[in-house]
Amino acid sequence: MKKIFTLVVSLTLTLNVFAQGGMWLPALVGSQIKNMQAGGFKLSSEDVYSVNKACMKDAVVWFGGGCTGEIVSDKGLLLTNHHCGRGEIVSHSTLEHDYLTDGFWAKSMSEELPCNGLNVKILEQMTELPLDEDARNTKVKKLKEKFGGKYEYSVEKFYAGNVYYLFIYKNFNDVRLVGAPPSAIGNFGGDTDNWMWPRHGGDFSVFRIYADKDNNPTSGYDENNVPYKPKHHFKISLKGVEKDEFTMVYGFPGTTEEYLPSFAVKAYKDKNYPARIFARQSRMDLMSKAMDANRQTRLQYTSIYAGAENAKKKWEGTILGLNRFDVVNKKIENEKTLLNNAEVKTLTDNYKKVFDENYKYVMADAYFFETVYQTFPFKVGEKAFALTKLDLEDSPEVIVTHANEAVKKVVDLFAARDSALERQLFSTLYKIYTDSCPDFLPESLKTSEDFINYYYKNSVLSDSARLKNFVNKYVYLQKNQKNFEKNISEFLEIIKQDIGIHYYYDLIKLYFSDIAAASYNFDTETENFEQKYQALLKKLQPATIKFPDANSTLRFTFGKVDGYYPRDGVYYNHYTTLDGVIEKDNPQIYDYNVPEKLKNLYKSKDYGRYADTDGKIHVCFLASNHTTGGNSGSPVINANGELIGINFDRCWEGTMSDIYYNPEICRNISVDIRYVLFLIDKLGGAENLIQEMEIVK
Ligand code: ARG
Ligand code: GLU
Repeated sequence: MKKIFTLVVSLTLTLNVFAQGGMWLPALVGSQIKNMQAGGFKLSSEDVYSVNKACMKDAVVWFGGGCTGEIVSDKGLLLTNHHCGRGEIVSHSTLEHDYLTDGFWAKSMSEELPCNGLNVKILEQMTELPLDEDARNTKVKKLKEKFGGKYEYSVEKFYAGNVYYLFIYKNFNDVRLVGAPPSAIGNFGGDTDNWMWPRHGGDFSVFRIYADKDNNPTSGYDENNVPYKPKHHFKISLKGVEKDEFTMVYGFPGTTEEYLPSFAVKAYKDKNYPARIFARQSRMDLMSKAMDANRQTRLQYTSIYAGAENAKKKWEGTILGLNRFDVVNKKIENEKTLLNNAEVKTLTDNYKKVFDENYKYVMADAYFFETVYQTFPFKVGEKAFALTKLDLEDSPEVIVTHANEAVKKVVDLFAARDSALERQLFSTLYKIYTDSCPDFLPESLKTSEDFINYYYKNSVLSDSARLKNFVNKYVYLQKNQKNFEKNISEFLEIIKQDIGIHYYYDLIKLYFSDIAAASYNFDTETENFEQKYQALLKKLQPATIKFPDANSTLRFTFGKVDGYYPRDGVYYNHYTTLDGVIEKDNPQIYDYNVPEKLKNLYKSKDYGRYADTDGKIHVCFLASNHTTGGNSGSPVINANGELIGINFDRCWEGTMSDIYYNPEICRNISVDIRYVLFLIDKLGGAENLIQEMEIVK
């Protein structure tokens, strides 16, 4: 009895000490290691980050500046998400070789495809710098001298400028595409399932890093390059995951704002996000109707729609979570105790005053970007603006060439879009902008007529045939005439007065003079306050400010495999299986059209060694790791430092974690590494890659 009692007590204690949440600096892993070990981690600080010996950090890469990837062989083989590699997959796809639709597998290194412009960075080391600017610069200079030109350097601030570090990277620019599943698997569920659970995507792609013969990065593709030999690569575990087991995620999270005061959180929740959501929803409603009605329109708008949808859905989840957990009031309660301190009170009062007085600029910025900036006439005006710059001093040939270039760009724009849909979008978005920002409208756009009709009636830019005729009449046809100069002057006169040119130019001018400058000042001022505010927090409430906000520098986070309650009475299990992919299968629905080959593998249960002990292929799993955008593609690691998954998303109900992490509800979504191996092996037949990886049971 006593034994059981002790066991229960020590288990409960273990569970209690294991605090989750936080994006930790690798160099400070020592401060977390006890907590991690309490959660089940079996390795040491040195295994996570070390400058003396090979460790996990040597196998984590910053992929393309916006994602993360992990090295899984001693020949620089790299895993990341399908949505992170999509640009490269698309750029190698043609109608004959449609790798996006059909997938791609290099069966030998010679078949790997160079990716021009793609780079990955590997952190060599991070070093804390002095706060004093001169001392900081001196130290940076010394370190640069010591490490030399083979490295890339960047100074980053933390805690809004209370701490500085220098990051020293190796920057590889010869990275090649090795494999990808068909997008019906890589992006299974599409926008419908995005940010959602249960999830069934195989969101991964495979690349390889190449280096010169001395294992150093090169500035681009070189046929003499050889596979990069990493200091460390992840072993891959076939064990799968159990509920409550320890996991960690190592990667490059982009931005979080965990220490905002209550009034700033309230402004996001009640003003900023709702405004953006409303504008995006209005756009998306119009787009989706037109996309449903016309296949060509679907093709043209798929990625524009997905881009609009991704952030919109995240903000909706954030509002939901902030309300559900009453975060603003929680912050207010906590601030009350801080406000007893006179220094905090003065600072907060001033901060709030500046915030309240200037938030209108932040909102105008948001509206501008979400509405008028997105309208087609704005993009057309931007391209056509070159026509107003034709130079009378130039020869007719040069003038015609310049006019041609500008006209071609505009005509291409028209070809890429659906004009009827764009007119509806223009009308809707322009109205949202003028209703919401009447103080930020140039004089030239204040007509007594309905502006949209006015534009289509008067602008030569409102239709590509009309623009072509207009340029034809004044420029091309006149090229060899005596009165060319006179005609060009007239042309310039008309184009400069065109309402389409005013729509673009006067708006962008006003944006830079009245909105961007003010909102930039706002950012600088709030950062000053934030720096002081976070410094005071650290002094007065050290427990509430343990890790710095994400800033696209390498971090690790840890938690446990776990399901959650999305709503009252509903529990979400921590994993999904191939059964669920087949359940969702519907050839009529684009997002749920499962490829035949996968269905056949499911029917024949040809799972090899990749099935779980329950006999099923596990597809995705959930854990309480604190992640954000940028963590896409990050390695999900078990207690032994082995790879068990690839991070690719978060659950909708917990996207508030960028502002307020709560282990009850915040979950990262990973693709189970066994599903990845199953797809590479059984679907892709790329045994060469399976051989290359170090797979452990
Ligand atoms: N929500 C994920 C992330 O922010 C995945 C986005 C890509 N997938 C998609 N269906 N749009 O970036
Ligand atoms: N899909 C995100 C990315 O591209 C990760 C999801 C998140 O925001 O946590 O980085």
